[in-house]
Amino acid sequence: MRLLVRNGTLVTEQGLIAADLLCADGRIRALVDRGEPQPADEHVDATGQLVFPGFIDPHVHSRDPGSTHKETFAHSTLGALCGGTTTVLEMPNAIPAVTDVATFESRRREHAGRAWVDFGLWGMALGPANLHEVVRLHRAGAVAVKFFWGYALDKETKGLVYDFAAAPPDSLLLPPENGEVLEMFREVASYGGVLAAHCEDRHILARSAELLGHPIETYDDLLLARPAVAEATSIAVGAQFARVTGCRFHVVHMASAAGARVVREARAAGAPVTAETCPQYLTLTDRDAERLGPAIKVYPPVRSQADQDALWAAVNDGTISSVGSDHAPHLVEEKMLGFGSAPAGGLGVETLAPLMVDAMARGRISATRLAEVLSTSTAKLYGLWPRKGTIRPGADADLTLVDPSGSCHISNDRMHALNPVTTWDGWNLRGRVTASVLGGAPAMKDSEPVGERRGRFVAADHDGRRT
Ligand code: DOR
Ligand code: ZN
Repeated sequence: MRLLVRNGTLVTEQGLIAADLLCADGRIRALVDRGEPQPADEHVDATGQLVFPGFIDPHVHSRDPGSTHKETFAHSTLGALCGGTTTVLEMPNAIPAVTDVATFESRRREHAGRAWVDFGLWGMALGPANLHEVVRLHRAGAVAVKFFWGYALDKETKGLVYDFAAAPPDSLLLPPENGEVLEMFREVASYGGVLAAHCEDRHILARSAELLGHPIETYDDLLLARPAVAEATSIAVGAQFARVTGCRFHVVHMASAAGARVVREARAAGAPVTAETCPQYLTLTDRDAERLGPAIKVYPPVRSQADQDALWAAVNDGTISSVGSDHAPHLVEEKMLGFGSAPAGGLGVETLAPLMVDAMARGRISATRLAEVLSTSTAKLYGLWPRKGTIRPGADADLTLVDPSGSCHISNDRMHALNPVTTWDGWNLRGRVTASVLGGAPAMKDSEPVGERRGRFVAADHDGRRT
């Protein structure tokens, strides 16, 4: 099948190009002069629109299997599609967690028939408990391994424990000590993989919660119990380990100015450190806690306006190379348990692109930088480039179309999640994600799917790729 995308402005790695785009058999075939006649079975009219390489959400927790009362892979990938994302990278902390190749292979099979968009899979790094399995996950095509540094895991299920001070100690698997973490960096370095971490130092968290002197009741209590220095400290330790081992270290969901400063300094010193942030940290501040209540609770927490400003600066100066949603749904009842007891996390996969497009329309980020942080740099980091993340002949024909002068409204009624309650309910946004193309055929238009469900598994190939 041949598809021609006409009259759009392509956002390429060489900049904006006014050209038509010819796709055939699932791949991009050629950039052609606008209006030049081309034999095609189907046309997409992109007049007045920016045509981006398909957006990639590298940070999705679909809860599937294990917690499918919270969310399912079918729901999260449908949300991704309708929001303008064409590939998701699924986090490993479902139950069972992806800590070995057998689980990786079964997850890949289970998800294959349910995916509305293409998907890659993360593996989980536990430390000594699966030290020699991580290379096998890498060879099986895992995009990276995730280390939940700062989270305790349930010993049996490897599920995250959100409040480990309250859990019986013998049910927990605590993050390993630094000597073992260093060993894990060495191991991942040995095969050229990516070690990504949730960075919050657990000793700082534990002591900060004790010093609070009473259970967490308000959002200010939560911020005191999880200070930014906990994030910055873990990042600094990881950056040292990255530097001495050569291991590629990626900081996920970075939430603080202090964290961004450490990443910037480490990169300047030549350490192989990269970072991600999320729309919640770029659009919300602690001042939204009163309005939103515990719905705003995520780990690490949303902080001050100064933190938000520093994260935007980091997105624009290259300190942060990738923006992901950290889609991590819970039941509404669970989120109403209060700032102390509610589990951390919320919806995000469907609003990732609209919120970032809004930022572009407001001048906070350029179209070319948006293409990098939502597609190109993400694809490079996770071993998917140049198959994904670029508009060039030979790449998968995955595209996200954006009308920069349009607008959109976010509302719970229109969310495709299993539990459709979003932090951004009621927001009016500038710019509009209008349509997407997946594997060379139209896949979404006006926030609804077009055609069959046909997401495919994509294996990472890290050979020879460096960020
Ligand atoms: O808020 C969060 N929720 N942060 C994480 O790091 C994990 C996530 C989850 O899986 O619930
Ligand atoms: Zn996460």
